[in-house]
Amino acid sequence: MRKAVLPTLLVSSIAAAALMTSSQAFAYGAGDFFTRVGVAQVEPTSDNGEILGGAGVDVDSDTNFAFTLGYRFHDKIGVELLAALPFKHDLQVDGVTGGSTEHLPPTLTLQYYPLGGTESRVQPYVGAGVNYTRFSDEKTDIGASLELDDSWGAAGQVGIDLLIDDNWALNAAAWYIDIDTDARVNGDPAGTVEIDPVVVMAGLSYRF
Ligand code: NI
Repeated sequence: MRKAVLPTLLVSSIAAAALMTSSQAFAYGAGDFFTRVGVAQVEPTSDNGEILGGAGVDVDSDTNFAFTLGYRFHDKIGVELLAALPFKHDLQVDGVTGGSTEHLPPTLTLQYYPLGGTESRVQPYVGAGVNYTRFSDEKTDIGASLELDDSWGAAGQVGIDLLIDDNWALNAAAWYIDIDTDARVNGDPAGTVEIDPVVVMAGLSYRF
């Protein structure tokens, strides 16, 4: 029994020393610029609305590389911009045609970090803000022209950083984005398509 005490003490004092040494360096808060990089999946809501007077629309999910840029101007408050490569979604208009569209959904959120400014290595956050989505390269299988208007909408966000060292953290984040777009088929207004996706991203945070 006695033999086990020393190693245990040793390990716990090393751990305590490591924590105390790093506690100042780990200040996570005001003045941090940060970027988060990872893979994001855009999962549209299950009901994407109807166009052409009753044809249901179904928009599939897509996964691509995404990144964010942000700044904490206060220990507990920051801003973050979600950027990405364009997402490409296959879509079906029931009984009419299949097709696809690409979109770019930059999203700006104002964020609250409840544990910002503390030594916690677990740093959750929530955010709210605005999304602008621009659609491009809309296609239909039957050759009809499809145009989807740009969309402005509200966005909400939750996320968490698990700090690894002074600069790096594991990150997971999710956004809900209200994306509604007016569709035109062959130039005529055809109804509104609701994308309203949940975006889930996993990757790394880096702050400097
Ligand atoms: Ni909506």
